[in-house]
Amino acid sequence: MTELVLVTDNGPVRTVRMNRPDKKNALTMAMYEAMAAAIESAPRNPTLRCLLIAGTPTAFCAGNDIGDFLKMATGEGALGAPILRFLHALARCELPLVAAVQGNAIGVGTTMLMHCDHVVTSNEARFSTPFVDLGLVPEAGSSLLAPRLMGHARAFSLLVMGRGLSADEAKASGLINAVVPPDAVEAEAMKAAREIAGLPPKGVLASRRLMRGSPDEIVARIDEEAELFKTRLRSAEARTAFEAFMTRKH
Ligand code: COA
Repeated sequence: MTELVLVTDNGPVRTVRMNRPDKKNALTMAMYEAMAAAIESAPRNPTLRCLLIAGTPTAFCAGNDIGDFLKMATGEGALGAPILRFLHALARCELPLVAAVQGNAIGVGTTMLMHCDHVVTSNEARFSTPFVDLGLVPEAGSSLLAPRLMGHARAFSLLVMGRGLSADEAKASGLINAVVPPDAVEAEAMKAAREIAGLPPKGVLASRRLMRGSPDEIVARIDEEAELFKTRLRSAEARTAFEAFMTRKH
């Protein structure tokens, strides 16, 4: 079986790659676990200075696997523990996070970028968070981080109205740093990761900590969102939306 998350250490940079292209890198519980483990363990390796999150050429990440959402909605109605583990790992990550985005970044595919320090994206990438359309609420701390990044009005349009952003709009919103042609995304992101890794490491960590504030605040918001998410998952609105996606004809 193909590994759904590929973790590669290359000098001071660890690449964590979502690798389920046939499902547009929709995240399963096993993928959340693997990504969380790769993020949590990185600071324990003294040679690593930066993490790079990447997808595949046709997709960054289509969000949570909607089949899993449907199971959660009809089962115990809780967010899977691996999801929370991954989100907490992002919020508590001490090393700088860079992302390379090609294709769509949907749901957690977009909200995970709000935890990143430097994002490079292809000019064809699109960013969207259709939480409310799916009967859900924003997650991953995005209800706190998005208004900080782009202001309330733009965050409302993205997170609540479900209006997606083109690469240029995402850059103008402060979500990403650079828009480049698709075949340059990975190289540009790696260049940025190596640049960060080449800086005095203690200075980078201390500056980043100052700029991000307390991770406890973000973790508390992730947990608060997760409680509401749980209620929303059990709603008829959410179940209808998940079933419609899973049974749609293409
Ligand atoms: N969960 C489960 N499966 C998903 C998925 C998701 N979030 N996103 C895509 N897939 C699957 C599709 O069902 C399809 O599977 P199949 O080939 O077995 O039928 C496969 O991935 C390819 O997707 P497809 O829709 O055919 O590709 P596309 O290029 O036409 O569209 C997307 C790509 C990402 C725009 C579209 O799949 C989509 O809207 N996905 C849902 C995104 C979403 O709402 N995520 C939840 C956010 S909270």
